[in-house]
Order: sequence, then C-alpha cells, then structure tokens
Amino acid sequence: MNTLIIYASKTGTTEKCADQINKQLKNSKMVNILDQNEDINRYDLIVIGTPIRMGMIDKRIKKFLISNIESLKSKKVAYFICCGFNENWKSYYEQNIPKDLLDNAIIYDTFGGEMDLQKQKGFDKFITKMVSKNTDKNKEIKILNENIERFIKLLDE
Ligand SMILES: Cc1cc2nc3c(=O)[nH]c(=O)nc-3n(C[C@H](O)[C@H](O)[C@H](O)COP(=O)(O)O)c2cc1C
Repeated sequence: MNTLIIYASKTGTTEKCADQINKQLKNSKMVNILDQNEDINRYDLIVIGTPIRMGMIDKRIKKFLISNIESLKSKKVAYFICCGFNENWKSYYEQNIPKDLLDNAIIYDTFGGEMDLQKQKGFDKFITKMVSKNTDKNKEIKILNENIERFIKLLDE
C-alpha cells in the first residue's frame, strides 16, 4: 500500500506530525500543499493534515478538498488537525470538511497542537499573546502523541 501525506503548516507543528506518520509508514511520501502536484489516484491511501486558525482549516487544503471531492470520496482517506483548543476538535471538522468526505474517512482525529510565541509574527503573535493571557495555566497546549500512534495503527490495518 502506498500513501501520500498532504499537509499545510504555518509554524511547523502539522509538518512535524506529518513527518512522524511518514517515518512510521513503509511506503509513503509527504508533500506540503504549497508544492502538491502529485496525482492522488496513484496512491492507495491519502492522509490530509491541517492546522486550525480562527476556527478554520488551511485555505489551500480546503480548496484541494473541494477540487478533488469526487476522487477523495472514492478513496481511502484519513484526516488529522492540529489545534490549540482540543475540546472543539469535532466542530472544526463539522464546520470545515464536507460531511460526505468525513463519512467516507477511515479516521479523522486531532493531534493537539503547540502555540510557541517565538514562532509567531504580526497578527498571529498578538493572538497568541491574548490566548496565553486568557487560558487556564493548567491547560497545557501540546501534541497528543497517543492520538498519533492510534492514528498510525489504524492506517496500517
Ligand atoms: C492566530 C492563531 C489562531 C489560532 N486559532 C485557533 C483556533 O481557532 N482554534 C484552535 O483550536 N487553535 C487555534 N490556534 C492554534 C493552532 O491551531 C496551533 O498553534 C497549531 O499547532 C498550529 O499548527 P502549525 O504550526 O502547523 O501551523 C491558533 C493559532 C494562532 C497563531
């Protein structure tokens, strides 16, 4: 089985997660959505990863999903998101990804996320500062490695 992992990432977290999947699968390739020109029909499995910003998935990933909706509906596809407010993860899917695609997915899950002030610029830095001021100090924003492992196990079946 060969796998194509397509991802978007602004500050590197989603890319790191995509890389973790890529390293653990046997016959896989990862591509940033900015460079995506692979023929998805040449792959048995497509994994799509995107960060969430202001409640939304990456706009290029969204465009990709819409332009390839018919092919994606007929393929094995798995989705993951990286987000800071993990408790909302299901609604991020419902609000951003067509139901047809989710119904057909072998899995869709959240990998948690990171919010590193040093990596942010401009408006994103402002938002990150605001968020860290207003979030409960005990509620750590982090990558959920157990979710990544569970996800990879399901892909391998
Ligand atoms: C400007 C900004 C807006 C964000 N908005 C959301 C949001 O609406 N919901 C959420 O759960 N996380 C939000 N996050 C957290 C990101 O999803 C998190 O930092 C993620 O790990 C980023 O992944 P990336 O490094 O691959 O871009 C936001 C982060 C920034 C900087």
